[in-house]
Amino acid sequence: MTPRYLTGFRDEHRALWGKHPVRIQHGLAETGLFTDEALARLIQDYPRQNYDLLYMAKQGTGNLASWREGDLGKVKGDVALAAIQAGRMWLNLRRVHEASAPHARLLEGIFGELAALVPGQRTYKHNLGILISSPGAQVYYHSDLPGQSLWHLRGNKRVYVYPNVAPFLPEDQIEKIVLNLTEAEIDYQPWFDEHARVYDLQPGEMLHWPLNAPHRVENGDMVNVSVTTEHWTHEIRNAYAVRYANGLMRHQLGLKPPPPRLRGPSFWARAAVAAGVKRSGLMNRHKAPKRIEWELAPGAPGQLREVEPWVL
Ligand SMILES: [Fe+2]
Repeated sequence: MTPRYLTGFRDEHRALWGKHPVRIQHGLAETGLFTDEALARLIQDYPRQNYDLLYMAKQGTGNLASWREGDLGKVKGDVALAAIQAGRMWLNLRRVHEASAPHARLLEGIFGELAALVPGQRTYKHNLGILISSPGAQVYYHSDLPGQSLWHLRGNKRVYVYPNVAPFLPEDQIEKIVLNLTEAEIDYQPWFDEHARVYDLQPGEMLHWPLNAPHRVENGDMVNVSVTTEHWTHEIRNAYAVRYANGLMRHQLGLKPPPPRLRGPSFWARAAVAAGVKRSGLMNRHKAPKRIEWELAPGAPGQLREVEPWVL
């Protein structure tokens, strides 16, 4: 088959997929879904619960906890794009496939193609997001729970991908993310960089990395547009369940859990505990509410103005 989206996919990528970071040429720009006009249309009236607008510190400073949440306000889509161009912020449109039918078809197309290119991988709960970020913006060191790919479309950015094991990904910290005790942040040390794979990502290149591999991103000197796709598999769900149960043991009961094994009786016992507690909603009280502190103000310093904080 000739891939339409993963245009640069070669046999070696099949062997590497999910096990090592891979960089592959893609053809998402050809869909026409990511031009300025298309993005401006999408941003306008985007459902409030499905986007994050964040202001962050200069590269080399700050951490995930210092991200400040904002609101697009009543600004038109094209004006919002111009403000992102002039500011230092990061707009994350989540669940775009629910807001736009063409993006839903694209998401389906991508995973249909992947199913053919990487046989034996059954994925579900697919998700498509669009990231639009300012020149010089950064995304701090963090780890995501689902399987992830980053499809770069515009600008350039440096992506650091770290090994998905301790000390880069300590078990107690990924458990906290699974339990919603923290957003996605993992403790970072500058010396980790020596052990990272570093990609200067160009438009038309996508990256896929092993599950939960911590990563961070530094934009170049121009606006960046990328797509993220997420997926789950049985293996990903099982890893999640074990960490959920281990996290309860460690953070709620003060016990030291065994390593996260994905088979055998101890796995099934832990998976059952995780499912029971999750169903009970017991841990939901830990979910931190989103506090919106500013809104877009094109032309103002930093392109934003402070507002009376409100909770989303
Ligand atoms: Fe991420």
